[in-house]
Amino acid sequence: MDTMEGLHRSQYCAEVSEADNGKEVVLCGWVERRRDHGGLIFIDLRDRTGIVQVVASPDYETVSFKKAEQVRTEYVLVVRGVVRMRDTDTVNPKMKTGTIEIRCEELRILNSSKTPPFYIEDNIDVDEKIRLKYRYLDLRRPEMQNNLIMRHKVKHAMRTFLNEHGFIDIETPELCKSTPEGARDYLVPSRVNDGKFYALPQSPQIFKQLLMISGMDRYYQIARCFRDEDLRADRQPEFTQLDMEMSFMNQEDILLLVEQMVHYIFKETLGHDVALPIHRMTWDYAMENYGSDKPDIRFDMKFTDITDLVRDTEFKVFRSVVDNGGQVKAINVKGYAGIPRRELDGLVEYVNAYGAKGLAWICFMEDGTLKSQVKKFLGEETLQAIGEKCGSQTGDLVLMIADKPAVVAASLGELRKEMGRRTNSIDENKFAFTWVVDFPMFEYSEEEKRYVAMHHPFTAIRDEDLDKLETDPGHVYAKAYDLVLNGVELGGGSLRIYQQDIQQRVFKAIGLTPEEADQKFGFLLRAFEFGAPPHGGLAFGLDRMIMLMLKRKSIRDVIAFPKTQNAIDPMSEAPSEVTKKQLHELHIQLEEDLVKK
Ligand code: AMO
Ligand code: AMP
Repeated sequence: MDTMEGLHRSQYCAEVSEADNGKEVVLCGWVERRRDHGGLIFIDLRDRTGIVQVVASPDYETVSFKKAEQVRTEYVLVVRGVVRMRDTDTVNPKMKTGTIEIRCEELRILNSSKTPPFYIEDNIDVDEKIRLKYRYLDLRRPEMQNNLIMRHKVKHAMRTFLNEHGFIDIETPELCKSTPEGARDYLVPSRVNDGKFYALPQSPQIFKQLLMISGMDRYYQIARCFRDEDLRADRQPEFTQLDMEMSFMNQEDILLLVEQMVHYIFKETLGHDVALPIHRMTWDYAMENYGSDKPDIRFDMKFTDITDLVRDTEFKVFRSVVDNGGQVKAINVKGYAGIPRRELDGLVEYVNAYGAKGLAWICFMEDGTLKSQVKKFLGEETLQAIGEKCGSQTGDLVLMIADKPAVVAASLGELRKEMGRRTNSIDENKFAFTWVVDFPMFEYSEEEKRYVAMHHPFTAIRDEDLDKLETDPGHVYAKAYDLVLNGVELGGGSLRIYQQDIQQRVFKAIGLTPEEADQKFGFLLRAFEFGAPPHGGLAFGLDRMIMLMLKRKSIRDVIAFPKTQNAIDPMSEAPSEVTKKQLHELHIQLEEDLVKK
């Protein structure tokens, strides 16, 4: 194998341009393709900037030509040569360097390569497990390189904006105290503290609040967070947040500052102007109209409440739902009355998966008649009234679901998105932002039979709701906000509680005894006794933000080394078993060993 000895790279491959015509360059990279035309060998040399064509010939230099004959795909080369213009008939307008080529004077093979398990090119159709197993090759593909470079640019823009606005970048610990609330913790055993465990942080939440008590005033961190939860396309066990906290700011100040930052990031990295101010809606409005606290507002198709119209009808299904405190809601799908019966049956199955027991429909036909499977129960007049309330015109389809509010929200919300896709109503090029504000402080967990915090228990409560904390927690609203982009929760935050007595009352409301609260969060409660300023902040999911900016379907595409849905890294095969000695040092005995005994 050759070495680089005596050669120094002059520039990156795709940085060579017509302006370099006649100059000598030294380029390094990987062989994308080699074409042998007898006395001429063409090599497409690739690095992270792109590709340039190298031409070797015995007429130029014989040793290099011999080496060029041995070269295979993905070999690593350094090439010294002279830039020249291509003949007009060989110009490639699709390539950035398509008008020039490098006449090879010296070619050295720095390393060979086995044939890669997949093509190093965009839009490959390869099982993601294989891509992850050979991630270093996957990351050679231009689209993946572009994703990571974009990620770098976004982080750079964030830092620039925040540095210029008086924020200080501070690191917080990765080995923390376990205080599970929300997701499960990842635990780390302590060798020197027999039987004790650290937890990896689910977020730097408490530390950033303590930094406000320290007087740091404005903090940020691009922080790694760990959550042992069920994974999806937009969830990873470890992910990255842009985490921020500010003192002496009200909610309005924070939202406006964050809007400016979002505008700056999109402008700097995509050249896109986010329209300011960002749209806002309350949580109640979002749930009523979209059945979701992260509505996709790239298209309309809002819910219409038709409970009042069907309350007194003969249709038992609807009536019993209404009598039991449920509701009936509908969406109007423009121009979809011609839907085949089979597709309608499929939609029923679709909503079943989200808990709905059925789906009623009305087709307003072009000839002025209407079709509905519940016509004999509801009668033509009621169906017409429903159509009127939904704003239906001839040619439209109305879809209705009757159930408990939570089931209607979930199933009709998913159906709305599905019908948005089927009617091509979603403009994939759009960035539709909205703030969702005024979240309820608590939600009731059927599983745990207690109220849990909807955001987290450090969230401040609306002043007028403080009295309800003990008597009516279900109607207490929080000073919390989420930023939603195209139906994905990009970030969330709140003003925080900074008075010890209120924090104690919130802990009580989520079922913590004073002893438990002290055992888990005593350090925070104590800190509140030493002059805690009013403060608040938020955290963005960095991975999700970049995924949406790049129009990718999964956050795995914007993370260098992600885990699979089963939280596995197919390349390093983490997590793995450890030796008996390691376990012994950590004072850990595995359950199966206990069983074997
Ligand atoms: P929250 O839990 O809402 O808030 O998290 C903030 C943002 O982080 C992203 N996110 C995730 N991204 C990838 N994989 C995951 N498993 C995952 N979980 C969350 C989301 C989410 O909006 N401490 C608070 C913030 C605050 O109040 O300041 C917090 O962590 O985009
Ligand atoms: P049934 O009387 O249960 O056969 O219902 C008559 C029609 O109403 C069926 O086509 C069901 O799909 C529909 N339906 C049943 N339950 C609901 C519901 N909860 N919401 C909307 N439609 C329903």
